[in-house]
Amino acid sequence: MRKSAYYVTTPIYYVNDSPHIGHAYTSLACDVLARFQRLDGHSVLFLTGTDEHGQKVEKSAAAAGWPPKEFVDEVSGRFRQLSELMNYSNDDFIRTTEARHIRSCQELWRRIAANQSPQGRDNIYLDTYGGWYSVRDEAFYGEAELIKDADGGRLAPSGAPVEWVEEPSYFFRLGDWRQRLLDYYGAPGSGTVMPESRHNEVVSFVEGELFDLSISRTSFSWGIPVPGDDAHIMYVWLDALTNYVTAAGFPDEESETYKTFWPADLHMVGKDILRFHAVYWPAFLMAAGLALPKRVFAHGWWTNEGEKISKSLGNVIEPADIVERYGLDQVRYFLLREVPFGNDGDFSHRAMVGRINSELANDFGNLAQRVLSMINKNCAARMPQAAELSEADKELLDAAHGLSGRVRGEITENHAFHEALNEIWVVVRMANGYVAGQEPWALKKTDPERMATVLYVAAEAIRHLAILAQPFMPESCAKMLDQLGVPADGRDFSCLGPEGAVKPATELPPPEPVFPRFVDDAAED
Ligand code: MSP
Repeated sequence: MRKSAYYVTTPIYYVNDSPHIGHAYTSLACDVLARFQRLDGHSVLFLTGTDEHGQKVEKSAAAAGWPPKEFVDEVSGRFRQLSELMNYSNDDFIRTTEARHIRSCQELWRRIAANQSPQGRDNIYLDTYGGWYSVRDEAFYGEAELIKDADGGRLAPSGAPVEWVEEPSYFFRLGDWRQRLLDYYGAPGSGTVMPESRHNEVVSFVEGELFDLSISRTSFSWGIPVPGDDAHIMYVWLDALTNYVTAAGFPDEESETYKTFWPADLHMVGKDILRFHAVYWPAFLMAAGLALPKRVFAHGWWTNEGEKISKSLGNVIEPADIVERYGLDQVRYFLLREVPFGNDGDFSHRAMVGRINSELANDFGNLAQRVLSMINKNCAARMPQAAELSEADKELLDAAHGLSGRVRGEITENHAFHEALNEIWVVVRMANGYVAGQEPWALKKTDPERMATVLYVAAEAIRHLAILAQPFMPESCAKMLDQLGVPADGRDFSCLGPEGAVKPATELPPPEPVFPRFVDDAAED
């Protein structure tokens, strides 16, 4: 049976600056999900891209002394390179300056404007905006939301500077959509906004005073013109959020892509941009008469060695630097293992090295290396044949066979990537304990048939572990599966279980360590 399609998105990244670890993190989580779903038989659309309009980008281009279009072309390229560097499997990379997106935004605007709110009023009306705006956040703030800096000046709740803006603007009647939004969220635990603490945060925001939202600007021009009134450009968040339907083919609702992938299954975002995704976006979609995303998940933020990451502190973590230093799959593993997904986390050299050496090199790497070396030496480099299975053999095989169900739940339902890895490592450690307890090296002389069975059972457990860890560490697991003699078409989840086992007598290549130890430079500690 064909499984349902799965559409997962990252936020599209502002092109005011180069990619850093925070950007890499959101996309990595989506990549693991996308890879998992593909291996599990789903057709997947995994989208990432760049958010290229608005005042923030316009100002950055001016500061760099570049025309905006040339500037965004350059910086957007750096985010494309991030995808290559991090080995993301995105199916599309959208840029908001593309013609397909401009067409989609203008059509979405027209539909919102053509419809009425649940209170029977026009969704969009023209007025004048007078209020506070933060260019860094690209967000409007009410006076009551602002905080004071040390000198009594006003700041956005995020700490970003704000400026007073007064200009003609179109407004969206957000307040009229309150009850529909609350219905959409459902009860805590409904899974529409996750984790549950974020659900509660969104619900209390929507239950409070929902002001109508200014959705156009007139004081600068770097944006998409409002249909029928090109003195106005669209508010950059309305423009940016629309990328998710553009990439699904909107406004061609009869297209295969749209019918297959919209509504999105999951918008993955950082906690700072939850309000835009969980409040404004579904309200715009409802107003336009389009289907709503099934889920929004907000993850936490990274600090560096305990400090907030910021350019002014000079502690920005560049993905290329850490990949070069620790290795790509090591970084991918660490980011999703170190912190319960949804919580804030701290990046530290010590924690990274600890995980590389104990979990990757010692636990998983050694397990594979030990078993494969013994097969190489003692079984003429061919997959051994199992004889009768003992209780210990069955126990390990059962654990390996049952693993996919547990991992699937953690990844696709709870988005608890750390728990999925934890589940995999329970079996890694069990397999290590099994090998230590069965002592296949001592059986070589006394009972070669039993040795063959033990090595076969261990190899079969490793096959399951490597197949299930592929979404997290694609290159390393591919190497491990090569060494186990698993054919390229035997690596998806339909090959889990006894039927997918490598045939006895299959010739295996010479084993090579997959996860080297990180040898620390003592001067750094
Ligand atoms: N352009 C908007 C998104 C529009 S989506 C329709 C935007 N871009 S961003 O480049 O500023 O941020 C993109 C993502 O990176 C956000 O999900 C944000 O939470 C994440 N991170 C930025 N810094 C981060 C950390 N230090 N830690 C973890 N993630 C953080 O917002």
